[in-house]
Amino acid sequence: MCGIVGYIGQKKAYPILIKGLKRLEYRGYDSAGVALISDNNELNVYKAKGKVSDLQAHCQDKDVSGSAGIAHTRWATHGEPSSTNAHPHYSASGRLALIHNGIIENYATLKEKLIERGIEFRSVTDSEVLVQLIDYVQQSNSLSLLEAVQVALRQVIGAYAIAILDRDHPDTIICARQSSPLVVGLGADGDFFLASDASPIAEYTDKVVYLNDGDIAVMQLGKELQVVNLDNVEQHPKVKQIDVTLGQLEKGGYPYFMLKEIFEQPKCLRDCTRGRINVDHDRITLSAVIDYRDRLISARRIIIVACGTSWHAGLIGKMLIESLCRIPVEVEYASEFRYREPVIYPDDVVIAISQSGETADTLAAIEQARSAGAFVFGVCNAIGASIPRQTTTGVYIHVGPEIGVASTKAFTGQVTVLSMLALAIANEKRTIPGDVYKDMVAELTRIPDKMEQALKTNEQIERLAPIFTYAKNSLYLGRGYNYPVALEGALKLKEISYIHAEGYPAAEMKHGPIALIDSEMPVFVIATRDKLYEKVISNIQEVRARGGRVIALVTEGDEQIRKLADHVIELPDTMECFQPLIASIPLQLLAYHIAVCKGKDVDRPRNLAKSVTVE
Ligand code: AGP
Ligand code: GLU
Repeated sequence: MCGIVGYIGQKKAYPILIKGLKRLEYRGYDSAGVALISDNNELNVYKAKGKVSDLQAHCQDKDVSGSAGIAHTRWATHGEPSSTNAHPHYSASGRLALIHNGIIENYATLKEKLIERGIEFRSVTDSEVLVQLIDYVQQSNSLSLLEAVQVALRQVIGAYAIAILDRDHPDTIICARQSSPLVVGLGADGDFFLASDASPIAEYTDKVVYLNDGDIAVMQLGKELQVVNLDNVEQHPKVKQIDVTLGQLEKGGYPYFMLKEIFEQPKCLRDCTRGRINVDHDRITLSAVIDYRDRLISARRIIIVACGTSWHAGLIGKMLIESLCRIPVEVEYASEFRYREPVIYPDDVVIAISQSGETADTLAAIEQARSAGAFVFGVCNAIGASIPRQTTTGVYIHVGPEIGVASTKAFTGQVTVLSMLALAIANEKRTIPGDVYKDMVAELTRIPDKMEQALKTNEQIERLAPIFTYAKNSLYLGRGYNYPVALEGALKLKEISYIHAEGYPAAEMKHGPIALIDSEMPVFVIATRDKLYEKVISNIQEVRARGGRVIALVTEGDEQIRKLADHVIELPDTMECFQPLIASIPLQLLAYHIAVCKGKDVDRPRNLAKSVTVE
């Protein structure tokens, strides 16, 4: 889950590395470190517990010269966050420094063997074993660094993206990947960049190489990038163009990325549907559906695998696909699916949903589905990430980089893609009448404008937020399409304000959670006008009868609920199936403002990381 970055060239490495770490800080932020080969050819390693700014403060009076370096921002898996456990780790000889993203599963066995051979370890991380092993293998067999990396990595079980700096070869950085992301940037002056994703590279070059599992890249000054595998067979990965702009990576005047991303949603949805919904707004064209039409329309069943917010989007996808395409859909937590023995038929379609495209559990679920012969379809945001490369085909959501750890625009982007997918398949299968299809497509194009309207609730929500900062617990209720919205609203509040929140189908409340309700308990009810509207009103009455405080999301002009609820937030009307695209906005804003009132770091909530690249 951590972020890694590296540079070798003619420029000063330290400022590039620090800036890169800041861009990657969303991936992990419990400690950070940097290794540089100084102008005097010394290997300097500096580390600090805390954020990248703590590392900068620590480095203030240090020698940060040099044009080659690697850096790391950590999300601990093995060993508490501390400066000793922070990366880079260096070998006992003091010659090599290494950064690592991932988990080395057999580190304990390897470590034991190295200790028996007299190697002293400093940290308790799994990662340190890599640098000690590589150095040991190299010294005891007089190998080149590349050969030593190949020999060492053959003994390693687990996931890694690593980069190594060698004091004795200051013109070279070697990096390698297996199940953790790694991108190499090719600078105009023959310099090289490396990072966990393209964001730290984008301002220096637009030419990148996404490494594949098993690749080892040698970045040597004055030479072309060399990529080989563990058996030293030359690999020829394609050089790709990055499509991320600098503006997309900065906050653009907003105090937090999360708020910027919430407000970007209307534009994101226009980008997501551009070129896919035609100018007459009556037809959807998805190339994946054209290319794999028969496979998709003949699916006997669809299994959606995802985690967290993406899983919530999957629940909405299930309702859309079942009602429009009449194909049964199961929605699975990828983390559970991979360890069960799920029944997967060759004529199943598995849809993997992931913002980052790097979630380890989702990748493992895809692997399982592929080995059972299923056709795997990806719904991802990060271009060129592992999931889009592991799937047969798919649709990018095109909402731009999402930096805030709490997912917002990716959720609405995923729901939009799933809506387009369901409509496109339904149209091919003729499971909905042509005029219904056209009305729905037209309504989907109106959603960005309606989102703009929903965003106008921001000021009202900012005023309401302080009332709820006292709460220890809260309940989110919704039915039908609004049930996943309730789950997503609760997840947002939990993640960034640390208030316990539960999402429930409104009618289930009476089967248990109702016992929790008292005058201290805020209950957020999504009560927009749909076919279950009257039933939700009864649920609101049940909450009121127990003294609960009701905050209702209603369709504009609703007078009935205004009389019952403590607070109402009015939203524009839309078709029931598109309601999640509108109703999730005030809930994102609510979580945001409550967290800000509580003084929390909205973009970097405690214990979380943006890309969960470990199990
Ligand atoms: C959402 O706010 C989360 N931080 C988290 O649940 C996230 O959705 C989950 O980890 C899945 O990530 P992915 O979409 O990148 O696969
Ligand atoms: N397993 C390593 C550690 O705990 C790296 C963690 C990560 O990739 O976030 O230091």
